[in-house]
Order: sequence, then C-alpha cells, then structure tokens
Amino acid sequence: TLIIKENDVIIGITRELVTGENRVSLCPDNVQSLVDKGLELWIEQNAGAQAGFSDEDYTSVGAKVVSDRDELFAKSDVILQVQSFGSNTENADDDLKRLKSKQLVIGMMDPLAQPQAAQQVADTGATAIALEMVPRISRAQSMDVLSSMATLAGYRSVLLGAEAAPRILPMLMTAAGTLQPARVLIMGVGVAGLQACATAKRLGAVVEAYDVRPAAREQIISVGATPVELDLPTESSEGAGGYAKKQSEEFLRMQREQMTEVVARQDIIITTAAIPGAKSPILVTEDMLKAMKTGSVLVDLAAERGGNCESTQVGKTVVAHGVTIVGPENLASDAAFHASQMYGNNIQTLLELILEEGQINLDFEDEIVAGTVIAHGGEVPHPYMRKLLDLPSLENESQGK
Ligand code: NAI
Repeated sequence: TLIIKENDVIIGITRELVTGENRVSLCPDNVQSLVDKGLELWIEQNAGAQAGFSDEDYTSVGAKVVSDRDELFAKSDVILQVQSFGSNTENADDDLKRLKSKQLVIGMMDPLAQPQAAQQVADTGATAIALEMVPRISRAQSMDVLSSMATLAGYRSVLLGAEAAPRILPMLMTAAGTLQPARVLIMGVGVAGLQACATAKRLGAVVEAYDVRPAAREQIISVGATPVELDLPTESSEGAGGYAKKQSEEFLRMQREQMTEVVARQDIIITTAAIPGAKSPILVTEDMLKAMKTGSVLVDLAAERGGNCESTQVGKTVVAHGVTIVGPENLASDAAFHASQMYGNNIQTLLELILEEGQINLDFEDEIVAGTVIAHGGEVPHPYMRKLLDLPSLENESQGK
C-alpha cells in the first residue's frame, strides 16, 4: 500500500483542451458525493460548459471554480481529465510542465498506442492512472470507460448512418406507397456494435450483425437482430478479457469473400471491429464497396485505428464507388452530457476504491490498481507498458527490496 497524501485531498478537474472534446471528467452529482465524503473539489472555469454544466452547477454543490490552470495544477493532489497525457496529442506538453511529484493524474491516456507518455509522466515523479487499462473483471465494470464510451459511440453511429442515407429506416405504409425498411449490417458486435444493433432496431431497420467471436451470436439475437452465419473456423477467435484475437490474413480474406454478398444487400453498414493495441482489420475492401448499391452508407467506428474499410478517411465523409463512407472521430464527445455522466460515474467509483478516510491509498496488490497505474515513483511500473517501451522487467528489483 502506498499513501500519497495524508489528508485534506484536493481534487482538480481541468478544462479539456483537445479540439472537439466536449466532455468533462466529473459532473456536479459526482462532485456532490465526493464533497460529502470530505474531499475538496476544484474545477477550472468553464470546464463543464460544453457538456451542459455551468460553473454555478459546480459551485452550488461545493466546488471551487479556478480560472488559472497553473493554480489548479499547483494546488491539486489529484488531477482528473478526459483526454489526458497520451490521449491529448495536441497540447499536453504544457500540462506536463505543470505536473508535480507525488501528484496523481487520472484520465484516458491511450497507453497502448502512446506508451512514451507514461514515461514522460513518470519522469515528473507524478503517478498516472490510465483508465483504458481497467481490467475486464466484474468488480471493475463500473469503472470501465471504454465500455461506457463505446455504448454512446454505437448509438451515435446509427444516427450518423441514418443522417447520411437518402432514406428513412422504418417501414412505412402510406397513401403514397409502402416504404421498405432500411437494411442495416453491424460488423463487430462488442459493446459499441451491440448498442448499434439495438439502436438500428429501435429505429425500425432490418438488422443483421456479424462478429468473429461465437459468443456474440446470442447477444445479437437478444437485441432482435439476425446473426450472419459464415463458414469460418472461429474456435480460437476470443482472447484474454473477452477481446477478439488478431486473425490471420487468410482468415480475413475468407471472411471478406463470404461477406461480399451480405454487404451488397445493405443500405447502411456500421463497422466497429477492433483488436486492442493493433491496427483494425480490413473488413470491407474497395471491391466490396463496388458491389454495394449506390447511395448506401458505411459508418466506420474504427476510423481512428486505421479503419475497417479500405476507403475510410478519419474525420471525413467521402464517397467511393457510390457509397458514402463516414469516418468519425471521438463520437462519444458528441453526446457530451451523457458521456460525462458515465465517465464521471466511472471515475467516482475508481476514486472511491483508492480513497480511504480522506487519504489516497494505492494498493498495488489490487489488480485494478496494478493494472491501471502506468507511472509511479519515477518509473513505469506496469509490466506490459515496460515491454512496449523496451524497458527491462522490474520484477527482480522489487523482489530484492
Ligand atoms: P472491441 O472494441 O475490442 O472490438 C469490437 C468488436 O469487433 C469485438 O466484438 C470483436 O470481437 C470484433 N472483431 C474483431 N475482429 C473482427 C473481425 N475480423 N470480424 C468481425 N468482428 C471482429 O470490443 P469490445 O466492445 O471491447 O467488447 C469485446 C467483448 O468484451 C464483448 O464480448 C464485451 O461484452 C466484453 N466486455 C466485457 C467487459 C467486462 O467483463 N467487464 C467489459 C467490456 C466488454
């Protein structure tokens, strides 16, 4: 166990700096609960404005609004952010200079793609908790920001698809004729994909869905969608934590071949397939796009990780072979109010885990702590992060102590 503050902990909520980032790391309800537990909460001016929370909403539950970011960092024991070091690739350098030894920073840090950020934070002597690293165990489900943000992204993806399509989704029988329901295909049915299935279904579309993990079949049926059955060897498709394993190029080739016909009959396709720490697999090639109907739409939720479609351009909407391809970035931020509510609840639960009677206790025996702390005491203690950074294992050293 490591105590990083005796008492009188001050928690600082910063304003988000990344372009297009509308979320805030804690909502007034969370602040209220933490103030009730005896903590002091400081928040940077206007930090909640884009998510629908005014400075008064925070002061009315006991937070102190600070206009000077330097002061916020200087006074806070714990800094809370949404896009923190590593995730903020635009302008985190100034914050890095503001960090101080023994300070704890909690946020999304994109640690698998940006491991060097963990080293940079470690060099300041601060401690970093990367929320993407929360292990997939039931006890940690309420802290899992990837799941909560994926749920919202899945919902928003269907709205984007519906908006870009020259048709409506439900079946309508009118005096002007019968309108056929839209056909929607969801490729990759994790958290985002499952919510996309449910959303498309609620809007009245005919929904089909496909995932490499055989376990997804039951979930697809549970939200009223139809699983696409392919003749592929999927026994070994699921890896640790329920994530998909990387498939061979041969597997992906066979998958694309069998999928071509399924893809061709859709009006809207949502792709969400991801492999943690790796580039997203290509599920839809240019040839498959050519087989699709003119005016159909593909929303690629994997755009930020290279995309599931060959023609996707991140942050852009392009038309290729008559198909409109939407490559959204940071979709959860579009639903900033609810995204902040979920993110805030995730952080609050995590804070409650490490707070004991007004002190912060980092118990490295706890797998949630050990799994998420990527910088501490001048080191990167996380074994997997050390591997990514080509650092020698710390094991022998700590055993010697
Ligand atoms: P993800 O965001 O890593 O990937 C999205 C989906 O793409 C996954 O379902 C994956 O199987 C699929 N995929 C990968 N390659 C594919 C391919 N070539 N073709 C088709 N689909 C492909 O996944 P996410 O949302 O993180 O969920 C993965 C699983 O983990 C789900 O079963 C989810 O319910 C489970 N989960 C468990 C949690 C817990 O136990 N605490 C928390 C969150 C998710």
